[in-house]
Amino acid sequence: MRRPAGRGTAINAIYEPSRSAPGAIADAANLSGYGSFQDSLRAPIHRWFTYPAGYSHRLVAAKIGHYGLDGRHWIADPFVGTGTTSVAAKSEGVNSVGVEAHPFVFWVAQTKLHSGHELAELSRDAGLVLEMSQALYADGLQCDGVWPALVYKCFDPDNLRRLYALRTAIRQSDAHPERADFLKLALTATLRIVTSAGAGWPYIAPSKFAERTVQRDAFAEFAKRCALMLNDVIATRAWGLPPSEHRLNNGDARRLTEYAGPGAIDLILTSPPYLNNYDYADRTRLETYFWGMYDSWGDITRSVRDRLIIAATTQIRRSDMDTVRRCPGVNEVSPAIHAELMAIIQQLAELRTVKGGKKAYDLLVAGYFEDMLKVIIGAYSILKAGRPFVLVLGDSAPYGVHVRTDEIIGELAVAAGFSGYDVEVIRTRGGKWAGNSQRHKVPLRESIVTIIK
Ligand SMILES: C[S@@+](CC[C@H](N)C(=O)[O-])C[C@H]1O[C@@H](n2cnc3c(N)ncnc32)[C@H](O)[C@@H]1O
Repeated sequence: MRRPAGRGTAINAIYEPSRSAPGAIADAANLSGYGSFQDSLRAPIHRWFTYPAGYSHRLVAAKIGHYGLDGRHWIADPFVGTGTTSVAAKSEGVNSVGVEAHPFVFWVAQTKLHSGHELAELSRDAGLVLEMSQALYADGLQCDGVWPALVYKCFDPDNLRRLYALRTAIRQSDAHPERADFLKLALTATLRIVTSAGAGWPYIAPSKFAERTVQRDAFAEFAKRCALMLNDVIATRAWGLPPSEHRLNNGDARRLTEYAGPGAIDLILTSPPYLNNYDYADRTRLETYFWGMYDSWGDITRSVRDRLIIAATTQIRRSDMDTVRRCPGVNEVSPAIHAELMAIIQQLAELRTVKGGKKAYDLLVAGYFEDMLKVIIGAYSILKAGRPFVLVLGDSAPYGVHVRTDEIIGELAVAAGFSGYDVEVIRTRGGKWAGNSQRHKVPLRESIVTIIK
């Protein structure tokens, strides 16, 4: 690659005082005090990638404060996502273990958790990459035939050339791998900022959104993103965080005992996928296509969907689920819960034959509870006696059939050996669909389920 003549213009941090220093513990009496994923759009480090499935770092700080954890303790998150629990635990000086199955989401968490950056070199590398990419772009670099069609639909052609030049410059730069990851994350976040398609959450469906009228320049937005991230590294360093240890695993929450020893953990805090048909693999399609990790639905199914617990009908192949359909694991620990689930599954199997979409909600329910039971059994093993397993969960109503997910998870845990559980409702859900005549009218909620070993 042709290198620019200069030695790279350092990108400097933008001074942006943070309102969210560590220790901003939520008022637990105030239900909304636990915050929402919106908090992560403002907080240093947490804001490096917008993951709507994420929860608030304030909840983690609140629970760490409530249970009096410090540097002698370990917190585990079996569904760590983009690392909210680990990053917040680090801010509080508590050790953490995180598990995430989705390779791209795991990489985001890992990049956010790294804090040993050499600031001057990071700033110089960012400047160098920007200069290299501008030179590539000026030389007429083309990107036809690089990606699946979805990527081309999401960007103005000229801006896409800029993004491709940035991608090429990062790949060709000789930045240390951890600094290259920092720059890759800055560029990843730039994608949804400069898209012309008004790419909507949670899925990318460019054709369904009006074209954005304001076009944002990819080079300028990438530079801003780097500066914001550099600022966060400087700000969090200034907090003088107490040292703590953090382990992240690109693994499977159903095999928790592989990542922590028996009785090693003081608090498990997590938000598992809800039983609500949200496809995590599809949510990150734009990003994973852009980086060339995957290039088709089948590729994403093999590399991501098949590794996740069952929580979306897009993960289901009916022919593979004859055994799971009968929920043998649940039957072994609780015949009463098994009977309740079988009635729901039967009802959903019948509704499937008459309802639009013919969704495999019957198998979704069976697969979800069979998988969650494996997580519960592993959680029991790695927790210290008397310690809590806290889950943020939503209940659900596929085809209008209510599944009291939060209580069933609590009851399953007690049947599997835990001593008791409590459900705290933090929010009602589904209000935005109220006017939709196609949708069920069952009121839904989001809860914090606290299970004690
Ligand atoms: C609700 S999100 C958690 C988000 C996280 N609290 C955050 O703030 O980023 C659930 C996560 O579980 C992950 N997941 C699904 N199945 C998994 C499995 N078997 N093992 C580990 N992680 C899994 C999904 O990829 C998703 O990132």
